[in-house]
Amino acid sequence: MKNTGPWWIRIPVVFFIIIGMMEYFINSGDMPAFIEYPIIQFFMLLVLLILIAIELIVTSIENVMFQTLSEEAKERYLTAKAKRSEWTWGKNMYKKLTGNKAIEEEGEIVLDHNYDGIRELDNKLPPWWVYMFYATIIFAVVYMLRFHVFNGYTQKMEYEQEMIEAKTALEAYKKTAVDLVDANTVELLTDPADLEVGKNVYTANCIACHMADGGGGIGPNLTDENWLLGGGIKNIYSTISEGGRDGKGMVAWKQSLKPSQIAKVASYIISLQGTTPANPKAAEGDIWIAEETP
Ligand code: HEC
Repeated sequence: MKNTGPWWIRIPVVFFIIIGMMEYFINSGDMPAFIEYPIIQFFMLLVLLILIAIELIVTSIENVMFQTLSEEAKERYLTAKAKRSEWTWGKNMYKKLTGNKAIEEEGEIVLDHNYDGIRELDNKLPPWWVYMFYATIIFAVVYMLRFHVFNGYTQKMEYEQEMIEAKTALEAYKKTAVDLVDANTVELLTDPADLEVGKNVYTANCIACHMADGGGGIGPNLTDENWLLGGGIKNIYSTISEGGRDGKGMVAWKQSLKPSQIAKVASYIISLQGTTPANPKAAEGDIWIAEETP
């Protein structure tokens, strides 16, 4: 049999290769596949059991065959097996990398000075260290040419690139998380599609008191520049979300409308500014002056 290492290396290696391939090929979104699809845990258990079973079968076949051997062949088999499990490749590699001389060979490298019995070995630098040192030299040359001679990208460019990427990621996130707005972060929407949604929300919920054209009835006129509870997108958002003053009849719409809907209907109301409703209610409240205007 080929030298494939002891079972306690073989089983985990094969097991994790299979898991790795599964994670790679199964599309499970952000979550690892075995969490997303619990059936995979069962599958993994099955794989593990099969691997163990294979090991057991191979070992018992080996045992049976061993019993059929002659005494002399048994001997040969056992010595070969002992050698095999020493993992000679790893040992040789280790020796090569450290470059150690065996104690018996130290006589070859002892230097000829001797201070009160203290002698010195002329050990070579360990090859693993020397190769790493060469690697740093090559790296330095490549780095210097790339960034100092041929002027590769700078840290500033890297930073700006990452900021651009972050911005697009943020935009994409905002699109999927429209309901994250609140009275502090809401911004005036001008996209006709958004205003259309706002108009639909308004028609469905608000015209009983504010009239279809915003002229006002039970509730105040929404088309003039006077506001009881403050104008501007942030105040209007917060009025719709939290409701008006107690007992006036304007409820807190956050119970039934999503934040994105409130933002859109608030923007729609602002788009009514300056229109002339059929039956405008007299102005109530103060004229709102936007903070931005000096
Ligand atoms: C039951 C009647 C009623 C309904 C329905 C209603 N409102 Fe009101 N709304 C009022 C009243 C009354 C006020 C005045 C509140 C106050 O004085 O505190 C008001 C105030 C407002 C204000 C503030 C006006 C200002 O001058 O500051 C806005 C904005 C507003 N409503 C938007 C809406 C929107 C959007 C809807 C639909 C989602 C809606 N309202 C549904 C009765 C209503």
